[in-house]
Amino acid sequence: MHNITNIELKENFCIKNMTTFKIGGEIAKVYFPKSEFECVEILEKEPNAKVFGNFSNTLVSSYGCSGTVISTSKIDNIIFEDTRVIAGCGVKGPMLAKAAAEHGLSGLEFMIGFPGSVGGEVYMNASAHGQAISDVLESATLYTDNEGFFRFSNDEMQFAYRKSICHDNPYIVLGAEFNLKKKPVEEIQAKMNENLAFRKSHQPMMTLGNAGSIFKNPKGDSAGRLLDACGVKGLRSGGVKVWENHANFIVNDANGTSTDVLELMLQMYTRVKERFNIELEPEIKFLGGNNLREVEICKILYQK
Ligand code: EPU
Repeated sequence: MHNITNIELKENFCIKNMTTFKIGGEIAKVYFPKSEFECVEILEKEPNAKVFGNFSNTLVSSYGCSGTVISTSKIDNIIFEDTRVIAGCGVKGPMLAKAAAEHGLSGLEFMIGFPGSVGGEVYMNASAHGQAISDVLESATLYTDNEGFFRFSNDEMQFAYRKSICHDNPYIVLGAEFNLKKKPVEEIQAKMNENLAFRKSHQPMMTLGNAGSIFKNPKGDSAGRLLDACGVKGLRSGGVKVWENHANFIVNDANGTSTDVLELMLQMYTRVKERFNIELEPEIKFLGGNNLREVEICKILYQK
């Protein structure tokens, strides 16, 4: 094992261009480990470090963050063994979907339109187009300070909608093994094309800064439908607005800030609460803490 000093570290690193929202200030320390072992080495020395993939489902404060962050984007190994695929936590969804398709393996076609990486997708049990991580995951490699490396089976991950056991425990997802089904490459490609076409017509493209769905769907309903009924489409806050074609997306079309996003989220949340008495739960994560107004809004939005 090498010394922590050999692991790529950027100090006072402006994260803006690494995030899909194209929003975010300077983070005091950002590590870029190249393997699970390097990641653990950092966590042993800096147990309070927060782990992120490629900041696709995250709003980073424009006022920055004084802590230490680990980006797993370079832990991107993929190994195929017959119908199994083992992927590092930093592998991007579309990359994995394409690689699986080339091997004639079906089950990950939904990942083609998700900009997130494997770690985050397993953590939150990402799903779309009738497929979910929980349908294909064989096991996940996890880590905690107390228990070190360990592996959990699909059952042990306790998957539910946008949820896994990791939400209630300090577990970090370092990798995952999926068990896929053999299918003709053309069939897999056709399903991926269909998913991409859906994304193009229903969701903003990544060239327009956004972080995917803003709120989780409440049980038995749709956040998009509820928000739409409250007339939020096109509602603007500074440099960001609710997307005109789907009320559960915020797009950064005019160099917005994290405060713009949080103020808008608060308006969306409040309208749905007042009209339907439903408290929407954010799907996106927030990383910040240096701005009082943002902390105040987060207390309301992230109360659970
Ligand atoms: N709807 C409206 N108005 C809107 C938006 C949606 O009435 O402004 C209605 C639609 O007509 C539809 C229903 O709400 O009847 C659901 O909308 P949609 O089909 O777009 O799906 P969604 O529930 O909003 C979910 C995931 C997406 C995933 C799609 C496709 C959540 C929060 N979102 O969206 O995931 O891509 O299904 O399977 O579960 C993400 O998590 O970032 C994400 C994009």
